[in-house]
Amino acid sequence: MNGPIPAADRSSQQITLHTPDTLPAPCMAGRDFLSNLDMSSAELRVVLDTASSMKRGEWRTVKPLAGLSLAMVFEKASLRTRTTFDVGMYQLGGHAITLSNQEIGLGTRERVSDVARNLERWVDGVMGRVYLQQTLSELAAHAEVPVINGLSDMLHPVQLLADYQSIEEELGSVQGRRVVYIGDGNNLANSHIHMGMLTGSRVTVVTPVGFEPNGAVLQEALRQGADVTLTNDLSAIDGADVLYTDVWISMGQEDEADRRRKAFQGYQVTPQMLERIAPHGIFLHCLPAHYGEETVPEATEHPRSRVFDQAENRLHAQKALLYHIMGGMKPRW
Ligand code: CP
Ligand code: NVA
Repeated sequence: MNGPIPAADRSSQQITLHTPDTLPAPCMAGRDFLSNLDMSSAELRVVLDTASSMKRGEWRTVKPLAGLSLAMVFEKASLRTRTTFDVGMYQLGGHAITLSNQEIGLGTRERVSDVARNLERWVDGVMGRVYLQQTLSELAAHAEVPVINGLSDMLHPVQLLADYQSIEEELGSVQGRRVVYIGDGNNLANSHIHMGMLTGSRVTVVTPVGFEPNGAVLQEALRQGADVTLTNDLSAIDGADVLYTDVWISMGQEDEADRRRKAFQGYQVTPQMLERIAPHGIFLHCLPAHYGEETVPEATEHPRSRVFDQAENRLHAQKALLYHIMGGMKPRW
């Protein structure tokens, strides 16, 4: 376990425009990012501070990824991840290419390892949104260039960067804050547990019986002494600093829709539920929302909701990640 993460530096909030000479040293140069645990607490601190600086507009005068390209491989649909990586690369001076699975047939038209060994010859980084975490590991094992997880069935680490940026914006330090995730013990739940390990936040995962998060992720967090609680008791939401939910039917689980809708009855985040969290508490959702299932429009539009600020932060947090992974690379052409 790495935590606790130091608090964000809020001493100086005035805008200082960067020049090429004032840029920070990239802290994860050339590394893969397949899980939040692929960064240390200190590196997370640097990435989140860079994200805030980018959000303040301090990077608009520099193009640190000029001449660099990112290939984005999608086995699944996306609005936020695709748009924010693409716009992020553009704003940093680089370029992004979207490759849908209909085009490249990852593992069907061509072996995953061969896709990796081709992409590495042309681009400087790969972002993958896939079913199996193993597909990302295989891409990373066979590509010399860094690979970033843009969601797998197991984890959604780039989402959690934006989420913790959003939490810090509202609550300051996340140390000791109660982050309550309610719903399906899915990729989001697993990554929340990782962030508890990394930051010292107190993570509670509330699920119906049979929908708990990944056992290995949970066991490792507990082994390392993280403050992670797993429960089926809905009263765990009372007094939460952050209430977080995600869809009950993730991409690829459409066949289980009826069984899941029944199992999750009572777990819907409503305005009434939001009255039970701490007075300063906030509601987050990674989106897309399946309204009428895990939440309702009255909750995402509630004064406690920050879901659209959270979506905005996908851009800033991922730009910061891209910079710290790719910022030291020289164009190869
Ligand atoms: N939250 C998220 O990853 O959104 P998309 O599926 O639209 O990329
Ligand atoms: N758990 C959802 C998250 C979507 C961003 C899914 O995997 O479909």
